[in-house]
Amino acid sequence: MFVPSFVEQQPDGGWTETAADTPGWLEAVYRNAPLTTDLAETATGGRVSVSSSTKPGLMVRMLDAMDVRDEHRVLEIGTGTGYNAALLCHRLGDDRVFSLDIGAELVDAARQRLSTLGYAPTLMASDGARGMPEHAPFDRIIATCSVPAIPGDWIHQVRDGGLILTDLKPTVHAGNLVLLQRTGDRLQGRFLAQWAGFMAMRTADTAPASDGLRYINDDDGARSTTQLEPFPWAMLIPWFLTQSHYREAVQFGLRDITDNGPEWTHIETESGSWAQVRVHADGDDREVVQGGPTRLWDALEDTHRRWIELGSPDWSRLGLTVTGNGDHVVWLDTPDSGTSWSLESHARV
Ligand SMILES: C[S@@+](CC[C@H](N)C(=O)[O-])C[C@H]1O[C@@H](n2cnc3c(N)ncnc32)[C@H](O)[C@@H]1O
Repeated sequence: MFVPSFVEQQPDGGWTETAADTPGWLEAVYRNAPLTTDLAETATGGRVSVSSSTKPGLMVRMLDAMDVRDEHRVLEIGTGTGYNAALLCHRLGDDRVFSLDIGAELVDAARQRLSTLGYAPTLMASDGARGMPEHAPFDRIIATCSVPAIPGDWIHQVRDGGLILTDLKPTVHAGNLVLLQRTGDRLQGRFLAQWAGFMAMRTADTAPASDGLRYINDDDGARSTTQLEPFPWAMLIPWFLTQSHYREAVQFGLRDITDNGPEWTHIETESGSWAQVRVHADGDDREVVQGGPTRLWDALEDTHRRWIELGSPDWSRLGLTVTGNGDHVVWLDTPDSGTSWSLESHARV
């Protein structure tokens, strides 16, 4: 019902569609895997995924973590196919379910599918960063796209004691699901133990703007070596915590792509800090070159060292407080343990 067709990217970069009349469609739709369901054209003529049906096991894990009760009113950010909204309608009744997506056609399609099942939740095509003030307060807000910071509008739209569950990925997509409870004008809670990644929130009903990387390299950067793997996904928690050292967003990319893959990973900031690390190690060591006002790679090495000293804590030992003025503080074990990382001012929506 909710995934009448999906698309898959092929090694040559093209996309193939599997529709309801294609052999294998039904098995694929019931697999415990995410499925891309919508593409949008980029400025350079490529096509990128802008909506997907979430992995069913992850949907259930999130609904479980949210601790939904009979009388709850729930706002979902990211209607997508309407699948998760249908689960919420089944559990709570459609008059308690509110869902929005920035994709107007996605919302129309979801409305039709839900109506076929006899559900008419409140659906809207709008930017989820603003929430749905006309129907607030909600007992729960669940976002199925990632945010760089908790949007200020959400805090006031969840009732006191209510919960927000979202994927927090400040920059470089290193972050995780966090479950926050509102008390007064602050939010506080813990990261979920198991990592999950959602597509990033868009600012318009189009393909997201390209990453804008300029691949700065002024050729006289400082040279050193590292024994760390240079990818965010190789050590998500240190990359996540390092964002407390940066005063602006850090972008990640790959450069000098050859038949053997990329030669370098690259990170840079708007104000001109940059670092490059060789993908292939020479023995245990990889070459590092960095320049600009902030030594981006050194900050990562420092944070990684500190994380090892703390016993390599996993997500279940990390929590987050969002204060009334929007500061995001990540803490180890308890809010007053004395070990914390303050996400810098770029973490605002
Ligand atoms: C992983 S999909 C959602 C899956 C969906 N919950 C389901 O059950 O199929 C993420 C969705 O977030 C939406 N999205 C991205 N940016 C948004 C924004 N600013 N406001 C609302 N929705 C947004 C995308 O259009 C996409 O449909």
